[in-house]
Order: sequence, then C-alpha cells, then structure tokens
Amino acid sequence: MRALAGRFVVFDGPDGSGKSTQLREVMNAARRAGVIVCDVREPGGTVVSERIRQILLDASLPEMSVRCELMLYMASRAQLVSERIEPALRRGEFVLADRYVSSTLAYQGTAGGIDWEEVVRVAQAACGDRFPADLTVVFDVDQATAATRLNPLLDRMELKGAAFHERVRQGFLEQARTWPNRYAIIDARQPAETVTQAALDALRRHFAAPAEASR
Ligand code: TYD
Repeated sequence: MRALAGRFVVFDGPDGSGKSTQLREVMNAARRAGVIVCDVREPGGTVVSERIRQILLDASLPEMSVRCELMLYMASRAQLVSERIEPALRRGEFVLADRYVSSTLAYQGTAGGIDWEEVVRVAQAACGDRFPADLTVVFDVDQATAATRLNPLLDRMELKGAAFHERVRQGFLEQARTWPNRYAIIDARQPAETVTQAALDALRRHFAAPAEASR
C-alpha cells in the first residue's frame, strides 16, 4: 500500500460496472494503511468541471455532437488535472480517479467514432504529463448485468442504447489489449468483495516492481 504514494490510478468501465463502489472500498483500504488519498470523479470534481458536467449529462441536449462531447469532457478534465490531480501528486498523495481519458477513448472514441489518435492528441493538450495515468483498472461487465445496476432515471449518455454501450465495453477491452503494461481488467460480475480483492491485487502486482511494471 505504501507504494501507492505519489501514484495516479484510474478506475474505469462501462456504466453500471460498479467501479465507484470499488473505488470507495480501495480508497478506504489505502487510508487504513496510512496512505493519503485524493479521490476525484469525472466529469466533475471542481466548480468549473461540475458546471461542464451539467451540460454534458443534460438529457434535453440530444443534438450535442461527439466532437463537442470530446472537447467538453476534456475541458472538464484539464481543470481537474490543474486544480486537483497535479497538486495532489506533487504532495505525494495517491490519486484515485473515477474515469479519465480511458472513458473518452471508449465513449467518444470506439463507440462515438473518433480516432484514438485524435483523442490522444487532445488528451496530451489537456492533461500534459498527467496523461497517461500510471495504471487504469477496467471493471468489465456485460450489458445485461450493467443494466440491472443503473438508476432508472437515465442521463444523456446512458440513453444512447445497448449497441452503443456494447461498443463502449469493447473500447475498454481494446485499450487493455493495446497497452497491457498500464491497464488491468477485472471481471466486475463477481461478488463485490471478490472484485475489491482483485482490484487490490492488481495494484499490488503493478506497483510491487515499478521498474518492470512501467516498462
Ligand atoms: P456519471 O453519472 O458520472 O456516471 P458513472 O457513475 O457511470 O461514472 O456519468 C458520466 C457519463 O459520462 C457516463 O455515461 C460516461 C460518460 N463519459 C464519457 O462519455 N466520456 C468521458 O470522457 C467521461 C469521463 C465520461
């Protein structure tokens, strides 16, 4: 757990994957071990980012283009990086983020049709050296299971339908295949406690031998 100080880890996955619950569990475990944790969630996490979030998730704006989405998610993130993530990492805290560039690659990239190269260029402009994160943990869940976990009041993204969300899932899996050294996949259909243990194991494995893991 001590090895987590000064590290930047992202928990990500499709809507209904249970990643936010897992983030809380792992955060509590880290805090119990004496690690200072900075937890952030996207889109949001700063006053400016929360305002942008309201536009992004507004179900009355179905006309929003994918490129507009890409820029707004990234704008919200740019503020979060400069106001919260960067200072916390400089202080040596463990930063645990609920979604990051991996979401944009899956939702606006694979599912939305924008090339990953373009998403990466915008991410580099928005996040500088804080892209990519040290480790991205993907909580993988099939559509049927995810649907049972969602609040019936769906937001603008959740209203995009099953085919879109299946592409989102594939987008996350494809990232893990493309960058195996900085991604871990966890089967999020398992019982919550099993998933938490798997997430903790993934952190241990990745940060136990940082010299090898980051290669
Ligand atoms: P939110 O209510 O925070 O959902 P969750 O609890 O699942 O994280 O809504 C965030 C929504 O925005 C979610 O449907 C995923 C989507 N999203 C993108 O499409 N691109 C992004 O870059 C990010 C960060 C989120």
